[in-house]
Amino acid sequence: MLTVTIDNHTIEVEEGTTILQAARLIGGDVVPPAMCYYSKLKGSGGKCRTCLVKVSQSSAKDPRPMPKLVASCRTPVVDGMVVQNKTSQEVLDARKAIVEFLLINHPLDCPVCDQAGECDLQNLSFDNGKEETRYEESKREFEVIDIGEQIKLHMNRCILCYRCIYTVDQLTEKRVHGVLYRGDVSEISTYIKNEINNDFSGNIIDVCPVGALTDKTFRFKNRVWFLKAMDAHRACTKCSGKVTAWMRGEEIYRITGRKDKYGELEEFICNECRFEKKEPKDWTIEGPRAIQRYSVISQNHYTNTKTPSVILPLEERMIKQEDYKRNRKNNFNN
Ligand code: SF4
Ligand code: FES
Repeated sequence: MLTVTIDNHTIEVEEGTTILQAARLIGGDVVPPAMCYYSKLKGSGGKCRTCLVKVSQSSAKDPRPMPKLVASCRTPVVDGMVVQNKTSQEVLDARKAIVEFLLINHPLDCPVCDQAGECDLQNLSFDNGKEETRYEESKREFEVIDIGEQIKLHMNRCILCYRCIYTVDQLTEKRVHGVLYRGDVSEISTYIKNEINNDFSGNIIDVCPVGALTDKTFRFKNRVWFLKAMDAHRACTKCSGKVTAWMRGEEIYRITGRKDKYGELEEFICNECRFEKKEPKDWTIEGPRAIQRYSVISQNHYTNTKTPSVILPLEERMIKQEDYKRNRKNNFNN
């Protein structure tokens, strides 16, 4: 086992663990933000630089600091390493600069973006962003295109994190999209207007940290903070059938995979579950889902204290004000 100290918290981890993974084992404020790393996708990380940290002691044998900030998602722990995240002003300044950089071409269309309320970039810039930009050049602009029957690509919003590329590459047999061109003209696209069309392609919507890939069956139908996230399952032959059903009243507005507190899918789900099963009778509704990640959705009026096997009547689902406050506090602390 290797010992690493991050923001004054010491932990023992196995060889091969990265600084980011070690920080997630500690939890809380120690965890750097990650816009491109995705623990379920091999090779992800190293693209966005939001997870930069300062290594103030390289190892027990070599107490010298590393000369530059390092990407915590790509840097393995060495025994005796000392790392600073929130405790380093240099890291906080660098993170501000990264946010400014990511926003150079990103449109400020949050009010009309389907990802609003669950956008990692929105949260990142809220925590680390500046109030104004120094960028005077015009932003890149692309046409909104369909890349498949149920998926829309807003390239203007893409931050080139490569998560969608890894997802399709690793979940399906035939990848037809990727990053075209290089440098500031890079863009996500399909090869000669192909469409992404396979049983698991919808997962690229869930892994996208911004609103670049959206679900055409849900676009503009509702705002996520008006919906209640319910755990639901069905017998599916293609995937586990365990999903989150986003409901308003008795209506299901959209189906997504279940996400953990880092906004990552617990399991990938198939397109049949995601796009074709929108009737409550298609699902066994287990009960309200605890949204553990920092999000406006956590403000909603539901709780994880009960997990009934059927939908409870509305009055039973309403929780006491005290329970609500306590849950909300716990969710934020997590
Ligand atoms: S479309 Fe989304 S997931 Fe794909 S590279 Fe762009 S930001 Fe990342
Ligand atoms: S999360 Fe580490 S570089 Fe993007």
